Amino acid sequence: MARKLFIKTYGCQMNVYDSARMADVLAPIGFERTDTAQDADLVVLNTCHIRERAAEKVYSEIGRLRLMREARREAGEGDMLIAVAGCVAQAEGDEVRRRAPSVDIVVGPQAYHRLGGMVRRILADRGERIVDTDFPTETKFDSLPEQSAPQGAAAFLTIQEGCDKFCTFCVVPYTRGAEYSRPVGDIRNEAIKLVGQGTQEITLLGQNVNAYHGVGEDGETWTLAQLIRELAKIDGLERIRFTTSHPRDMDDDLIAAHGDTPKLMPYLHLPVQSGSDRILKRMNRGHGREAYFRIVEHLRAVRPDLALSSDFIVGFPGETDQDFEDTLDLIRQVNFAQAYSFKYSERPGTPAAEHQDQVPEAMKSERLQRLQALLNEQQLAFNEAMADRVVPVLFDRRGKKPGQLVGRSPWLQATHIDLDPVRADALFGAVSDVRVARGAPNGLVGSLADPKQESAA
Ligand code: SAH
Ligand code: SF4
Ligand code: F3S
Repeated sequence: MARKLFIKTYGCQMNVYDSARMADVLAPIGFERTDTAQDADLVVLNTCHIRERAAEKVYSEIGRLRLMREARREAGEGDMLIAVAGCVAQAEGDEVRRRAPSVDIVVGPQAYHRLGGMVRRILADRGERIVDTDFPTETKFDSLPEQSAPQGAAAFLTIQEGCDKFCTFCVVPYTRGAEYSRPVGDIRNEAIKLVGQGTQEITLLGQNVNAYHGVGEDGETWTLAQLIRELAKIDGLERIRFTTSHPRDMDDDLIAAHGDTPKLMPYLHLPVQSGSDRILKRMNRGHGREAYFRIVEHLRAVRPDLALSSDFIVGFPGETDQDFEDTLDLIRQVNFAQAYSFKYSERPGTPAAEHQDQVPEAMKSERLQRLQALLNEQQLAFNEAMADRVVPVLFDRRGKKPGQLVGRSPWLQATHIDLDPVRADALFGAVSDVRVARGAPNGLVGSLADPKQESAA
């Protein structure tokens, strides 16, 4: 009988990709994915260490699982293995062991291709506990199984991992290690396989995706722009995106690709973190506000309808009222379609955590509120401007009610439509034109542009 696997994913899209690949690793030894922890024989928490709150969540989740496991054992329903994977495992594997003795396996993001072996060992000897947070010399990508479960109409594909930039607030260079780029041929093969399984849109992933420098089949080092143009040749692959980019690696050719490669979608997530030159320097971002404006200007020159998204940190150590005003000013000048924003969180071991001039929590909260009010206003205006337009939407999710579909516009707006259920089944997983009725804070609402498509034939 198949064993049940439940994976809970925290953090960034790279963890979403890793979770799918961990499921692929565990399938050959009999594990099938399930949607609840309740009936799982193995629970994997794929964790994130980026902010303190993210990391702390893991320990409370382990507590809940431990109680669930005890109840299962008492009811004679079998056992439950608990594995902690991802960036918390990497950053504080020993602490996980100490604080949470109920955890059976601690596996870092570079070691999950060995997860099958670890699980087998524990099933053979229930007393054992394993910690594997090595950065192996062979890469996990070379050791992953050929077989993979279909990822749906819109899929992630990790092409690059790790980071050498060492922004002073960030744990990623410590949890994911040095920059590594997968070879072009491997990426193309994986993309072709995804398309064969029904994927139409691929988002290329990397902590520093535009620092991509993988080896091509010609033996040369390829850039992200070259890779995108190559993948655009794949028949059936309709849309390409990439995330997350660093402004420093936004080279001219990659900017040009936004103008000359129609499959590359007009949406770019380009985190800037702050609009203050002083803070950007303290963050070790390696560029100032003017450089960011220039990049945006060049991008919009080749792709006028480009939607921009970003990440912001408020309350970085030493951030003054003026620094914060500079950030608001940058936001007003650029005009973002979407953005993520966070209060600075002190991360142990990072240089910024050592600063004496930490910003008080209340001030961080107040700044975050003002920043988000401005960003929300811009996002709503961007969505509302789509009213009455016809946009191609890839329907990759189902809504709550029968017949409801949720898809993504080219500008990554979540787009909702209501159909009769038979029609919804027929359109699921494909691109259809939608007439937008209205823009909402978090996306678009509309109906099929061609009324003939509305009802089932
Ligand atoms: N590589 C990406 C970011 C990856 S982390 C880049 O260079 O932009 C995702 C986001 O988390 C960051 O962009 C940043 O806004 C936020 N973040 C990272 N460390 C943080 C910290 N210590 N406190 C608050 N937010 C943080
Ligand atoms: Fe973190 Fe900076 Fe690297 Fe992004 S570029 S992952 S923020 S260190
Ligand atoms: Fe979090 Fe690790 Fe991603 S710290 S944001 S899961 S790289």
